[in-house]
Amino acid sequence: MAHDTRREHWEGVYGSKLPNSVSWFQEKPRTSLDMIFATGIPKNSWVVDVGGGTSTLADHLWGQGYRNLTVLDLSSHALDHAKARLGHQAQEVEWVAGDVTLWEPPRTYTLWHDRAVFHFLTEETARRAYMEVLRRTLEPEGHVILATFALDGPEICSGLPVRRYDAEGLAAELGADFVLQDTTPESHVTPVGKTQKFVYCRFRRQ
Ligand SMILES: C[S@@+](CC[C@H](N)C(=O)[O-])C[C@H]1O[C@@H](n2cnc3c(N)ncnc32)[C@H](O)[C@@H]1O
Repeated sequence: MAHDTRREHWEGVYGSKLPNSVSWFQEKPRTSLDMIFATGIPKNSWVVDVGGGTSTLADHLWGQGYRNLTVLDLSSHALDHAKARLGHQAQEVEWVAGDVTLWEPPRTYTLWHDRAVFHFLTEETARRAYMEVLRRTLEPEGHVILATFALDGPEICSGLPVRRYDAEGLAAELGADFVLQDTTPESHVTPVGKTQKFVYCRFRRQ
């Protein structure tokens, strides 16, 4: 899908729906937080939430004392919602409106988090571009947390087709220099009560 079409899609979603009514809404992203805490990274480490949208992950990380946070998303509507919710703390978070596959980060990061973004990259060229950005962005012994729909999860998210994964599939996408540290399934319940199967994986770069 072309970059502009992708952006228009997501701007349309966040321009027409409340943050707590989108199917991926989580009051508290517990599995992500548990995996981030399990890395043991210092709280002044740089952390990026790729495709963070209106997720409350940044709010919770801020509340836990993490102070170098970046939220990147294609949709500036989504980032505006998230900033408004965070209030004055939003000034301390770095917000980047852009496409992860084209991102040129100004620094390296200790932790890369992505929930429900990589799975939209159905074209191999887009996945390759994503992985190139990730490799340029992540510190040598950095951590990657990827959450996608599981093999028995939905085939469509927000009206778009997705690729579904298990831990082996995500490990293959990342390559041999990323070692799987932990994986856990999650049954996410959407605001309308549907269950969606996710897989979460935590990797460390060697
Ligand atoms: C299903 S939502 C998940 C949002 C968030 N990670 C969460 O768990 O609540 C997918 C998000 O990825 C963003 N997105 C999709 N493709 C993207 C891309 N190529 N670069 C950056 N963000 C993207 C969308 O705008 C949307 O906010």
